[in-house]
Amino acid sequence: MRSLLIVYHSQSGACARLARACCSAAAGVKGLEVRVSRAWDAGSADLLAAHGLLLVAAENSGSLSGGVKDFLDRTFYPVGEAGRVLPYGLLISAGNDGRGAREQARRILSGYPLTAALEPVICRGEVTAAHCRQAEELGEAFATGLEMGIF
Ligand SMILES: Cc1cc2nc3c(=O)[nH]c(=O)nc-3n(C[C@H](O)[C@H](O)[C@H](O)COP(=O)(O)O)c2cc1C
Repeated sequence: MRSLLIVYHSQSGACARLARACCSAAAGVKGLEVRVSRAWDAGSADLLAAHGLLLVAAENSGSLSGGVKDFLDRTFYPVGEAGRVLPYGLLISAGNDGRGAREQARRILSGYPLTAALEPVICRGEVTAAHCRQAEELGEAFATGLEMGIF
């Protein structure tokens, strides 16, 4: 069975809430295993066991949040050496911008054995029901594509 790994880092709970929304929608797709992990707890073995990665991160000081950056730093060599290329999705929670985190993630991930499966999503301001719906749509779309072998 193919599997989706959702990795998030959250200080206030905003990204955690969005990651849960991604997860609950993705889990509704039959035939796909969905795992969700805090960035600090996730490592190379989790990534290498997955068929796709969905990152949920905040923009902090114009950059990708430290926890998600740390996850990518720690897994860079092991995943690269394994010779696998995985599809990824990205959801950013930001106060009022998010473009710095999106651009930094794009640059980092362009040198990583991951390819963008879907357009990144930015949710600005406090997490609303509309943001949770966006997160659900992203989770479901990514999970569906993975399960069908499109990504
Ligand atoms: C230290 C810090 C720096 C931040 N910098 C930015 C920023 O550069 N741009 C922005 O739009 N929001 C910024 N924010 C707001 C967060 O991106 C936003 O509150 C997000 O929802 C936090 O998610 P989290 O608490 O789940 O990590 C910052 C928040 C903190 C705590």
